[in-house]
Amino acid sequence: QSPLHITNEPIKPFESTSTDVLLLKKALQKYQSKALEIPLIINGEKIFKNRTFKAQVNPSNHQQVLCNYAQAEPSDVQKAIDAAMESKKAWAKMSLDERSAVFLKAADLISTKYRYDLLATTMLGQGKNVYQAEIDTIGELADFFRFNVKYAFEMYKQQPCESTKGVWNRTEYRPLEGFVYAVSPFNFTAIAGNLFAAPALLGNTCLWKPSATAVLSNYLLMEIMLEAGLPKGVVNFIPGNAEKITEQILNDKHFAALHFTGSTKVFKNLCKEIYSKDHFKEYPRIVGETGGKNFHLVHESCTLEHTVLSTLRGAFEYQGQKCSATSRLYLPESISSEFIDLFKTYLSQIKTEDCSENIKGFIGPVIHEQSFDKLANAIEEAKKDPELEIISGGQYNKSKGFFVEPTLIKTTNPNHKFLKQEFFGPLLTYYVYPNNEFAEICETIDETSDYGLTGSIFAQSRDAILLANEKLRYSAGNFYINDKSTGAVVGQQSFGGSRQSGTCDKAGSGSLLTRFVSVRSIKENF
Ligand code: ALA
Repeated sequence: QSPLHITNEPIKPFESTSTDVLLLKKALQKYQSKALEIPLIINGEKIFKNRTFKAQVNPSNHQQVLCNYAQAEPSDVQKAIDAAMESKKAWAKMSLDERSAVFLKAADLISTKYRYDLLATTMLGQGKNVYQAEIDTIGELADFFRFNVKYAFEMYKQQPCESTKGVWNRTEYRPLEGFVYAVSPFNFTAIAGNLFAAPALLGNTCLWKPSATAVLSNYLLMEIMLEAGLPKGVVNFIPGNAEKITEQILNDKHFAALHFTGSTKVFKNLCKEIYSKDHFKEYPRIVGETGGKNFHLVHESCTLEHTVLSTLRGAFEYQGQKCSATSRLYLPESISSEFIDLFKTYLSQIKTEDCSENIKGFIGPVIHEQSFDKLANAIEEAKKDPELEIISGGQYNKSKGFFVEPTLIKTTNPNHKFLKQEFFGPLLTYYVYPNNEFAEICETIDETSDYGLTGSIFAQSRDAILLANEKLRYSAGNFYINDKSTGAVVGQQSFGGSRQSGTCDKAGSGSLLTRFVSVRSIKENF
């Protein structure tokens, strides 16, 4: 029995005349009126003094500094390691009930007292509209904290062993012996939270390096954890230079696990680095969720309008910066013109804007200049490549914020690199296949799927669904039938992919939790 009847946190509609909007606007003003000075938090202590600071800016208005955050120095990292190892002695001995209370209380603080602050800091710092911030920073974050409790109780009660007369066999789910290193991305505050929360719930202690472009919301979350009663030192908040911090952490023999969400390239380098060392006290666990090149495969039997709208949302919500975002589309010849006409009609109603001003604006800025430049270069490349044609969009402008228009690109080559390479932005490339080559296009999609994160089939024909389901079995860890490739809900669809997309350990599931325990079997003779 889990201790609670756990349900998904409801998402608020933010109707224009509601108190919710007033409270949100007040919070947005608060965080825009003054740049906060953000400390490190190590062993519960806020550390500012004599540290170098870096600015986090608003991607809709890069002249606006939202906060200046302290950079962890080597002595801070050492202190964080020591704090994690020390605090573990008491934290690991606490019962699951006691540890759960901290996360359940934090989930309540997230969805009540701090709702508007979390929304405002995520909207301003990470460029989300209110809906995208709600489903991330409130819904998914609170859901991770609560559902993890349910999964942990289920895991602890499993006793996969028989006892015989005179013998009692039992299983103990120990936390790992060392500390966990959580490295989080900018795009989901919820993911950042789960990267430390899942291991910590099981009695582990963590060093948490947030993304440089999400420090504002992530720091607020760290404060919420302390208010919820997380003992000092259980999670240590250390923003700063990723390479230096990581190098120091991997040189410590107590490093026991990497819990990572970010780019494939960084993750692969970290794996290489970890496997090349042999000073660790235990074999480090490596759990990573990385890139994606997620597909929508459309069959001629699809429901057209639903498929068009789902594709628009999958590709362009949050500017295509979800790891699950749809970035390649396969259309059957017979309906491709109708599909594209309708798609363009909807697209023409969308404009890029500052979503902290128009809180319901569909599409905001991309996260930073590097990302903007990468996308602008891809658009320029598309203009020159004879196998590519820009069908809609293609404008970009960084004079105030990092704005890239949602862009639809057609290719005549099913193996084109635009159908394989991740851009992490609002670019969608499509290919039109002959209707009678549905099986072949399934094979092509699979062969061009270096990544294996998410993908969707849109069809009413059961045969088409069955074929796609079978042929694309390893092309997506999250496979959707008649739904967009984004928007997994905790407790309903656990999330994560394989191939170059990660270790497929599935956030929002019991199987993720098993990665952060070390199982001990105990036999007692009477
Ligand atoms: N879990 C997020 C989604 O499914 C990334 O869109």
